[in-house]
Amino acid sequence: MAISTRVLQCDPSSISFPPSASTPTISSPDTLRALQAASDHLVHNLQPVAFPTETVYGLGALALNASAAARIFSTKGRPADNPLIVHVSSFSMLQSLLPKAYVLPPAYTALMKHFWPGALTLLFPSDGDKIPSLITAGQPTVAIRMPSHPVARALIAVTNAPLAAPSANSSGKPSPTRAEHVLRDLDGKVGIILDGGACGVGVESTVVDGLNSGGEVRVLRPGGVTVEDIERVLGIEMPAGSIPKVLVHRRDYRDEALEAAPTTPGMKYRHYSPAVPVHLLYTTSQPPDGELPLDAHAFLASLGSSGTKVGVLSLEDSALGTCTLPENGIEWTRYSLGPAAEPAVAAHVLFDGLLTLERQGVDMILIEEIREEREGLAVMNRVKKAAGDCRWIKFNQAGLS
Ligand code: TXA
Ligand code: MG
Repeated sequence: MAISTRVLQCDPSSISFPPSASTPTISSPDTLRALQAASDHLVHNLQPVAFPTETVYGLGALALNASAAARIFSTKGRPADNPLIVHVSSFSMLQSLLPKAYVLPPAYTALMKHFWPGALTLLFPSDGDKIPSLITAGQPTVAIRMPSHPVARALIAVTNAPLAAPSANSSGKPSPTRAEHVLRDLDGKVGIILDGGACGVGVESTVVDGLNSGGEVRVLRPGGVTVEDIERVLGIEMPAGSIPKVLVHRRDYRDEALEAAPTTPGMKYRHYSPAVPVHLLYTTSQPPDGELPLDAHAFLASLGSSGTKVGVLSLEDSALGTCTLPENGIEWTRYSLGPAAEPAVAAHVLFDGLLTLERQGVDMILIEEIREEREGLAVMNRVKKAAGDCRWIKFNQAGLS
């Protein structure tokens, strides 16, 4: 049954968190009213609310109420075996979720000091008496983060309860980074969308497991906090001789059992895919042994004939980003991923680019590879999952013009 969806504006700059107070100060009456309406909807109606975080928009519901949390799964069409991240607004709220007398690993203390609130999710042992098994999909761990977006943190604080929140998209779709992305996808399925503007980071949080007996820090999903920053902070904060290794899943280690299970972010299910085919273009990496790259011009010209609409997400300073595209009747729409040296820009615009090109009605989307460094690691992790296939292409020295 369709419900009516209200979009309520929130002004993030009207919200502040005085260091010693447990509740935020909210100077805009409209923002306060919107947060209270959202909080009422969560608590009294036990219904989910969409809200901005610094990474992507989330679809939140009371984490400690199984029937409220169940609505997240039905609203998104999310498989029940994919666990949710629990969002907290304070360290005391974190403490209230952890097993009694649990002592934080020193690596977590270091990471939280630098990255909380922020785009870092940590796995903790789950206390089955507190956390519904629906949240953890029956796993022994629970994923928790403290978002830094003032609207997200204020919503949790005003509600005075942790919120479980996946990205606010139908399962399998690109994550939303603007309120209008959520509205287009979930109109009639969610009662309230808080609009706090575009998300700054643009890709989801980094999911880290530091509970391994080997002591290493495992990055299950690269995200807004970079692996380079995690290594730097552990190097600064941990005593020499006990600095943990940082291992990135699928780059530095594989785990067949983990990959068969849905607990590894984005492993089992289709992810990040718009309604049109997405092709990943490797423009600088070498093809696998024995293969030759395709001639870029011939490849691009072969994509369609008169009237075919092709969206191109490319770096602004690459051969693809600066070339003259073939004039054979294909209608090209370019969307810039920013300069190669600034992968944070690509992270910020990636999902908006996919969703904007999809809305414009292109027949296919091409995405250029970026270097898998800093935010580029998270970007390529999403791009590889969004893309149905990949091609290696090569520009001749004169480019296409
Ligand atoms: O930035 C974000 O993390 C956003 C915003 C809304 O906070 N949320 C988000 O949630 O991306 P979601 O559900 O789209 O992705 C969470 C990922 C899932 O893929 C899940 O596999 C993983 O976190 N996860 C959750 N609990 C886990 C657990 N106990 N063990 C391993 N992975 C877990
Ligand atoms: Mg998601």
